Amino acid sequence: MESRSTLSKRRTSRRSFLQAGLAVAAGTAGTALVGLPALAKTSSGISAGDAAILRFLAAAEILETDLWQQYNELGGVQDSEVPGGSGNEAYTKALTQLDMDMPQYIHDNTEDEFTHFTFINAYLASKGAKGVDLNKFKTLPSSKATGAQQIGRLTNLMQLTVDTTYYTRYRSRTGNPDLGDTFAPAIPGLLKGKFPAIPRSDADLKPDNHLQAIANTAGFHFGFIEGGGTSLYPSLAQRVNHPEVLRILLSIGPTETMHFQTWQDKAGNAPNITDPTNGLEFPNLNADGEDTQTNLIMPEPTQFLRRGKFPPVSIIRPTATEGAAMGAVNSFATDGLFIGQSKEFFDVIEDLAAAADAARRES
Ligand SMILES: [Fe+2]
Ligand SMILES: [Fe+2]
Repeated sequence: MESRSTLSKRRTSRRSFLQAGLAVAAGTAGTALVGLPALAKTSSGISAGDAAILRFLAAAEILETDLWQQYNELGGVQDSEVPGGSGNEAYTKALTQLDMDMPQYIHDNTEDEFTHFTFINAYLASKGAKGVDLNKFKTLPSSKATGAQQIGRLTNLMQLTVDTTYYTRYRSRTGNPDLGDTFAPAIPGLLKGKFPAIPRSDADLKPDNHLQAIANTAGFHFGFIEGGGTSLYPSLAQRVNHPEVLRILLSIGPTETMHFQTWQDKAGNAPNITDPTNGLEFPNLNADGEDTQTNLIMPEPTQFLRRGKFPPVSIIRPTATEGAAMGAVNSFATDGLFIGQSKEFFDVIEDLAAAADAARRES
C-alpha cells in the first residue's frame, strides 16, 4: 500500500481534478463541482465526495474481481456461483500444498469481490450517481494454460513483482507505515523480478518446483491484494460523510480483512523450494525469528498515531487517509497487475483515485 514509486504524480492535480469534477458533474444533474467535490449533493443526498469514494472503491473491486476470476478459473472451484474456466489440475494441486481448502477459499474470495463492485455500483445508481464500468479495458490476454477462459482481462497475473512486506509489517511490534517505517519482504526474491502467479501455458506445469513456485507466488499475492483492501476501506472511511455510506465502507472493509487473515495464514505454508528455472527462492520463514514466524498471524501490537505517546495496540496498518486511493493504484501498478494496459486505462483509474482523494468530510 505504501509504495508510490511507479506512477508518476504527473497527472495528479490539475487535469485529473478537472476531469474528476466533470465526471462527478455527469452524475449530479450538471452541478459544477470543480474545487468543491465534497460539498455538492447528488439528487438523493450523498455528497459528490462520497460518490467519488464509492466510485473508486467500485473500480478497485472490479479490478480485484478480474484478478480473482483468473485465479478461480485455474485453481478455484468453478460452479454456478463463480462460473468460468474448467480448472487446471496440476496448478490446483500445487496450490493445495498451502492448504487443502485453497480452491474453496479462492472461489469464495472471487464471489465476494463480484458482490462488492456489483453492490457499490447498484448503490451509486440508487442515489442518481454514475457507477463504474471498466469493460472496455478488458484487453489483456488470458493464460493459455488448460482451464483458463480465452477472454480479455483487466489485470495481468503473469509478470508480478509481489511485495511481501505485509507479512513482516503485521508482525512488527514497533513499526507502523503511517509513522514512516519500512519493512523487510518475507520473500525477497519476489521483489527481484517479474514472476507468474498462474501458469502462462501448459509449459509452466513442469518441472514440479517451477509450478510450486508459481502457486507459492499466488499464495503470497493473495495476501498482498487483500492486505491492500484491508487498509483501503478504513483509510477512505475517514473522509466519508453520509452515515449509510460509512456503513457500507465499515461493512465491506472487514471482509477484506477476513480474506487477508486467511491468506497470510496460508502463505506461511508455502513449501520451501527454489524454482529451478529462475532461482526464485521461498525460504523457511520459521528460521529467522518473530518477524516472519508463520503462526504469528494475529496483528502484533504496535505504535499508533504518535510514536511513544500511547501504549502499543493491535491495529490495521496503514490507515492514513491522505492520498490513500492513489496509493492503492500505485501499489497495484508496482505489483505488475497493469502491465500491458493502455494509457487511457491509467488515466481513468488515476482520475477516479484523484477524485476519491479530493473528497473531504464536512464538519
Ligand atoms: Fe473486495
Ligand atoms: Fe478483496
